[in-house]
Amino acid sequence: MIILFFGDIVGEEATEYLLKRLQQLRDHHRVDLVIANAENCAPNGLGMTAWQAEALLANGVDVITGGNHSWDSPESVRALDNPFVLRPLNLAPGVPGHGSLILEVEDELVTVVNLADACSMKSVRAVQGKWTPAYAAWEAAERAGTVIVDYHGDHVLEKQIFARAVDGEAAAVLGTHTHEATLPLHVLPGGTALVTDVGMTGPTGGVQGFGYDIFVAGLRSTGNPFELGIPRPISGPIELGAVLLEVDGGKTLNMQRIS
Ligand SMILES: [Fe+2]
Ligand SMILES: [Fe+2]
Repeated sequence: MIILFFGDIVGEEATEYLLKRLQQLRDHHRVDLVIANAENCAPNGLGMTAWQAEALLANGVDVITGGNHSWDSPESVRALDNPFVLRPLNLAPGVPGHGSLILEVEDELVTVVNLADACSMKSVRAVQGKWTPAYAAWEAAERAGTVIVDYHGDHVLEKQIFARAVDGEAAAVLGTHTHEATLPLHVLPGGTALVTDVGMTGPTGGVQGFGYDIFVAGLRSTGNPFELGIPRPISGPIELGAVLLEVDGGKTLNMQRIS
């Protein structure tokens, strides 16, 4: 089974870029399943619009994952009603959305689990006091067949330790959230692929795909880069944060980046 995974899509231009190329990428790499983290694809980079979620799912993405931005707008929250749109699983009951999905791909079962670390979730108002440890949620999750984890987090060590803990149980632990692609592509001894961060699918030339003038002005004037607000996604050439997995019997045989 060939699985294509895209890291955080940032902004409208990157979403359009991907929509235009998805079918071609699917065909070229003979992809069976596409998973994309869309927590930043809204025009302002915060959450996703209903239209974008629908367009991605109609044009070649099979499962959308999320992160700390999943609840950034009422529209982004409504998108979570779609069974193919996930947000982090490790949250107490009462938070909108769901965090895992079992689907059938070419007569095989695949489970997609979305997890998040505490650091990435600490400033999310919608989940205040409701974050739960990722490993406990993993243990409690219903899983079948090939298991792919989107581990949304800042903490490098935590992602790497988690991957070691589930080596042989998950086909892949794919880091998202930092928007900065990490170089090593590991396949652990038990067959679990690990990349600390897949990297963003977003515009280059800014900071994490966003403009930086407002951040810099905030930092210079108050010492707090976030004091003056969050800039919109920058306009620039799109980079593709994506990995391609070859999986057999729930274990990864090979992982490579595509560009
Ligand atoms: Fe992100
Ligand atoms: Fe994030």
